[in-house]
Amino acid sequence: NTGAARFLPERLTLPELRRAAAHCEGCDLYRDATQTVFGEGPSQARFLIVGEQPGDQEDRKGAPFVGPAGRILDKGLEEAGIDRQEAYLTNAVKHFSFTLRGKRRIHQKPTIAEIEACNPWLNAELALLKPEMVVVLGATAARALLGAAFKVTQHRGEVLELGEALAVATIHPSAVLRAPDRDEAYQGFLSDLRLARHSCS
Ligand code: URA
Ligand code: SF4
Repeated sequence: NTGAARFLPERLTLPELRRAAAHCEGCDLYRDATQTVFGEGPSQARFLIVGEQPGDQEDRKGAPFVGPAGRILDKGLEEAGIDRQEAYLTNAVKHFSFTLRGKRRIHQKPTIAEIEACNPWLNAELALLKPEMVVVLGATAARALLGAAFKVTQHRGEVLELGEALAVATIHPSAVLRAPDRDEAYQGFLSDLRLARHSCS
């Protein structure tokens, strides 16, 4: 396993990428997961929204952000005035990672090696979409897009430059669900999404 690069298609389009990613064996995560969960959304999307990796429900359904974290994200996007039709949703790592506890599949944070192995897919999505604004959800997406030195806790809610695009990092919607004060965490998340919304045309 030497990463996803050798699985990239010759012709770089979003449909070709999605087809090729379905057969990726760039790291070991493909072995136990159900399927590759590729990004979804219109190719003209102005917003690229990047999460960590698919969860249990995403793994079963094959689509990003369709579980509990997705409900928080949907609510935040709607309240921030970001239409789902102008947003392309994806993850830094495209396969679910878990450990078994009895019959339950417990989500496991991806390793740095897995984030790096999967990065060619995310980079290709970014290069093809050319979004105006990248919304970086949590530490894994930040590691993939902004590097090891970037700390979401310190630099969330700032407008950053990411190549030709702007970017705003915020906490992951799952962190909102786990927060001791969920309402406060959600309000912070929402205000970062609003900043992203108002920082592009
Ligand atoms: N969490 C993520 O980061 N991505 C998903 O698609 C679902 C949950
Ligand atoms: Fe390929 Fe990424 Fe899946 Fe690893 S997680 S097998 S690199 S698509």
